[in-house]
Amino acid sequence: MSNTARHPRKILVTSALPYANGSIHLGHLLEYIQTDIWVRFQKSRGHECHYVCADDAHGTAIMLRAEQEGLSSEALIERVSREHQQDFATFGVAFDNYHSTHSEENRYFSELIYTRLRDAGHIATRDIEQMYDPVKGLFLADRFIKGTCPKCGADDQYGDNCEACGATYTPAELIDPVSAISGATPEVRSSTHYFFKLPDFARFLQGWIDEGHVQPQIRNKLMEWFESGFNEWDISRDAPYFGFEIPDAPGKYFYVWLDAPIGYLASFKNLCDREGIDFDAYWQKNSEAEVYHFIGKDIVYFHALFWPAMLHGAKLRTPSAVNCHGFVTVNGAKMSKSRGTFIKAATYAEHLNPEYLRYYFAAKLTSGIDDLDLNLEDFTARVNSDLVGKVVNIASRCAGFVKKLADGKLSAHCAEPDLVARFIAAGDGIAEDFEAREFGRAMRKVMELADEANTYIAEQEPWVLAKQAGREQEVLEICSVGINLFRQLMVYLAPVVPTMAEGAREFLKLETLAWHSRHDLLVDHEIDKFKPLMTRIERDRIDAMMAASKEDLVEEQKLKDAPRGPLAEEPIAAEIAFDDFAKVDLRIARIAKVDYVEGADKLLQLTLDLGGETRTVFAGIRAAYAPEALEGRLTVMVANLAPRKMRFGVSEGMVLAAGDDEGIYLLSPDSGAEPGQRVR
Ligand code: 2FM
Ligand code: ZN
Repeated sequence: MSNTARHPRKILVTSALPYANGSIHLGHLLEYIQTDIWVRFQKSRGHECHYVCADDAHGTAIMLRAEQEGLSSEALIERVSREHQQDFATFGVAFDNYHSTHSEENRYFSELIYTRLRDAGHIATRDIEQMYDPVKGLFLADRFIKGTCPKCGADDQYGDNCEACGATYTPAELIDPVSAISGATPEVRSSTHYFFKLPDFARFLQGWIDEGHVQPQIRNKLMEWFESGFNEWDISRDAPYFGFEIPDAPGKYFYVWLDAPIGYLASFKNLCDREGIDFDAYWQKNSEAEVYHFIGKDIVYFHALFWPAMLHGAKLRTPSAVNCHGFVTVNGAKMSKSRGTFIKAATYAEHLNPEYLRYYFAAKLTSGIDDLDLNLEDFTARVNSDLVGKVVNIASRCAGFVKKLADGKLSAHCAEPDLVARFIAAGDGIAEDFEAREFGRAMRKVMELADEANTYIAEQEPWVLAKQAGREQEVLEICSVGINLFRQLMVYLAPVVPTMAEGAREFLKLETLAWHSRHDLLVDHEIDKFKPLMTRIERDRIDAMMAASKEDLVEEQKLKDAPRGPLAEEPIAAEIAFDDFAKVDLRIARIAKVDYVEGADKLLQLTLDLGGETRTVFAGIRAAYAPEALEGRLTVMVANLAPRKMRFGVSEGMVLAAGDDEGIYLLSPDSGAEPGQRVR
């Protein structure tokens, strides 16, 4: 690997910038932990490595959220930034700088890049028609428009696709569209937009991708996009918008995704100014320095197409690599608020040691983009067996004898130089794995060494020898070997579990656990009294964390429900007369049979028993229920809805459920209700 030969390398590393309107959760943490481990490893190797991040503070969602909370956007992003930084610190994610995209540095670089692109002819303008909310005075992104699906007639569908039938369309095709913000009927209005001419960069990007700056799976995805051709990218939004005004276009703002990646430069510049680092040495064209972006696979388009093209067009260097990872699942499924597996960083940390998670993620991470499952059983078993049972165990078995026999001083002679030398030599392979982001492979090698160390101690049986007169020196030498092996393991684990490593460093009375330091054997060296460096995970802590995560959901729901009125997500519909209500015939129904619907991953086909009469209803509840969980259950249905022809058959009514993006909750009557009974 040519990179590792150069010493010291100059490396700039970033993780994606989290939006400033939500909490950090376990899904986010995978990325920050992955990046932080890699950065700590580079620093341990003696390289000049800087790790920067920032809050992604702009956009309509943040502006509306602030308004909903009765705050200015600035006050909201300030508060969220503090929360984010607290969460990162708790998980040992050690940024060298944490900044904001709402900063002067970011305004400067956004304007610089934009004007360079414009002056080189890579910006176009043209008028586009868009939905406009006349009450809020705001152009509406597709997700802020709702209406009836033009294909299947399902109500309450978002602006660009139907969850019930899977159709895609433009918001203008929706029947009876409403603004999800104010409830008003949107109008179509025209306005001038600014576009980044991505097609100008097709040749450049093809070359860039072929040079291996992305993983093979990502390259394949990019090739598909290439084949379907590039469009110009709309980089402007009309006022009101929380962001930066475009220099030569009053009332037009940079779209949040334009200035978000520029935030990497802004945060780094802020660090450079504070610490006297040479910014240009990293960002000028043909720079020798390396720049790596760690991101999730959902934002590849921005980082592997728009971003290198923007940088290249603005005559700046492009990234050395964009490193993608997959998503986190918990117990094999997407994180779910109602199951208590949508776990916030702060909630986790109230119940469990953050280093358990760092180790578990490391043990399962590869350089690929597969999803990573946090299986809570396996998590408990793995952490307890590896970190506590194998690694800490070595020190705890040996330290007592060293204390007792030599007042804490290791033997002056190493009894097993070959064994220790093998542990030291293994560091080269482990370093290659860290470098290649094959953390799982590195952890397997470390645990194999730990097994070997434990076997050595078990075979030598110092506790048996200790009972035999005159064999104290042998016992001391065996245990001193054990402590030396433990030290090697902690050098290799330090990027993954920095707090535990810090405890080990103090116990070993060492200046550092940096990678190269492992070459000096610990002979005639004093160590401290042993303290447990990591304790076992108890199952009840996990249960408590999941219960607390369900509580988080309740709290959030209260917050969402609090401000009723124009800004609530689901405004109360227009008032109706009693007679209108009386027209709706609601009945108790028994769910007799449930089938999957081929080709519709949101739908279940329900056969409902109305106490004599049978109905077929297609319901968009598959994400929340398995068929067998529903069969036999009572629910409430609209029995006099006109039959609707859907792609899969005719739906003869509707069942009632509460829900939003986070969950679906089918209504059920109290016990005693009978199929066919009228609901009023
Ligand atoms: O997807 C997200 O959460 C974005 N806030 C990531 C931005 S990364 C970079 F471009 F700023
Ligand atoms: Zn539809």
